Amino acid sequence: IATAGNIAGEALSNKSVVMFDILRASSTISTALANGCKEVIPVIDVEDAFALARQLPEGSFILGGERGAIKVTGFHLGNSPLEYTASVVKDKTVIISTTNGTKAIRYAAGENGRVFIGSLLNCSSVAKALADLSKDIVLVCAGTRGKFSLEDTLAAGLVIKDLLKFFNKNPWQAKTQEHNKFYLEETPIFNNDALILEDAAVAALRLAEYYWQSPIQGLLDSLHGQKLLQLGLAADLDYCSKLNHLTNVPVFFNDKIL
Ligand code: MLT
Repeated sequence: IATAGNIAGEALSNKSVVMFDILRASSTISTALANGCKEVIPVIDVEDAFALARQLPEGSFILGGERGAIKVTGFHLGNSPLEYTASVVKDKTVIISTTNGTKAIRYAAGENGRVFIGSLLNCSSVAKALADLSKDIVLVCAGTRGKFSLEDTLAAGLVIKDLLKFFNKNPWQAKTQEHNKFYLEETPIFNNDALILEDAAVAALRLAEYYWQSPIQGLLDSLHGQKLLQLGLAADLDYCSKLNHLTNVPVFFNDKIL
């Protein structure tokens, strides 16, 4: 597990990387793609988003995103997944710029990496994709302005909970076997029999075990969840808490998410 704030310390190459910003960038991106948009282009700065839009034919794109959870002036849409309906986004390029999520995607991708977009909406599908790839896994929690966030860690934990189904050996047994490797400071290697969990991943798993029957409670307990509630966005919290509502696994590669 990494947070967007400490990603620089992680060796990401040749690993499966997932970015979670469940309130709300990840949820919005997955929803826009599920509703048939052509592609999503995450952009860090608002000015760059406008500049990119100027290069595209009128009517072929939607500019979306937020600052402080409020729609950016001049954008078509804010960052509510509920705005990205099929009638609005079908066949369009969605250019999106958000406070934490789009940054986290770009940082996690580095020069030309591949990043999966994870949320509560697609936990099971993400877990399946990770199991199929058989690589070491880094779950990047976007957090809020560089700080730990409960809701992203919950989603990461739910993916881990699902991933465990794909392995035979119990992780604690495997952990003991990996103990020496860890103390010799070797990078843990993917083992087809066992999912070896770092302590941060165990903590995320335990969080998931606490909230899995009521993920909305996790969102309500979070700082950003409370902020969205104050802004009258309870419907967004409800939607973003729908576990496995979608089956798509968006992937960022080569500047776009498909
Ligand atoms: C972000 O990227 O910071 C979030 O998605 C903020 C939000 O809730 O709109």
